[in-house]
Amino acid sequence: MGKMINITTQASPSLALIKYWGKQNKKQNLPATTSLAMTLDTLHTTTEISFSQNKDVIRLNGIEKQDDKIIQFLDFCRKYFKTDHYYTLFTENNFPTKAGIASSASGFAALAAAVNAFENKGLDNKALSALARRGSASASRSVFGGFTLLKAGAREAIPLENKDYWPELRVMVCLVSAKEKFIGSREAMEASRTSSPYYSVWIKSSRSLCKHAIDAFYKKDFEKLGWAIRQSYLRMFSTMFTAHNPIIYWEPGSLQIIQTAETLRKNGIAVFETMDAGPQVKLFYLEPDEKQIKKMILQECPDLNFMICSAGKGVRYL
Ligand code: PMV
Repeated sequence: MGKMINITTQASPSLALIKYWGKQNKKQNLPATTSLAMTLDTLHTTTEISFSQNKDVIRLNGIEKQDDKIIQFLDFCRKYFKTDHYYTLFTENNFPTKAGIASSASGFAALAAAVNAFENKGLDNKALSALARRGSASASRSVFGGFTLLKAGAREAIPLENKDYWPELRVMVCLVSAKEKFIGSREAMEASRTSSPYYSVWIKSSRSLCKHAIDAFYKKDFEKLGWAIRQSYLRMFSTMFTAHNPIIYWEPGSLQIIQTAETLRKNGIAVFETMDAGPQVKLFYLEPDEKQIKKMILQECPDLNFMICSAGKGVRYL
């Protein structure tokens, strides 16, 4: 008879201010650049795990799926925890999946915590972060709340400051399209690494960019941080645009928001955009400017759906 244990965990996406893009070691999933990130509130993945008889059963947002990335991760967990258990997973995102809103970060953080609790292994957050990295490198950051750093070549993320460090800081996640992306981040970063002539420049230049961003973060110099946020995603995309074949996640709606942010800056409002492996645009700003930003965004893009986030909590057991 199977165990009757049933565990539920929750984790939130980790949005990078300074991006991880490219792997130093593919097998172990070690990042090639240092990323600085904020774990968001409001958005989350909830995962319920229970025992399954003879195969893994995965239900993603209510639909049964054979997800290779998840199965590979569960195979790794079985080896790591020295068990032959199969699992039934019910996992739900309260935001679009695989659309470039870091659903893999929250998803693998929630899953690593769920398997750890189910197997009663009591891993601390450092070990959990290293385990989650095997599913997705950004998931190692989602284990922790607030602001995190995942160093190039590191096995786990480091918590820098908790969610209350910068209470005015906000992120507007603009949903340009809810379609699943046409190419996953794993494949896209590998194409950048192996075929973009700019990849080596990306790796080299991201070191000083990250130092610049960390310095601005600790001084709470938002303009300086904002400059680095924009440079990071634009340099990352330069490696995608110049890959063979070129990868273009951007859509007309993405550019419309990028240009609206530019107009806002020209009007003296500090708002800085970033993007990940998908068409969504995320705007960083400080709360006192929220009203004006919302007004301008809705004027330029009246049908836009968006979600507003602050820094949130790390992985939790429900
Ligand atoms: O963790 P992955 O494999 O889904 O890659 C995440 C890559 C970016 O979201 C584009 C950047 C980042 O640092 O989160």
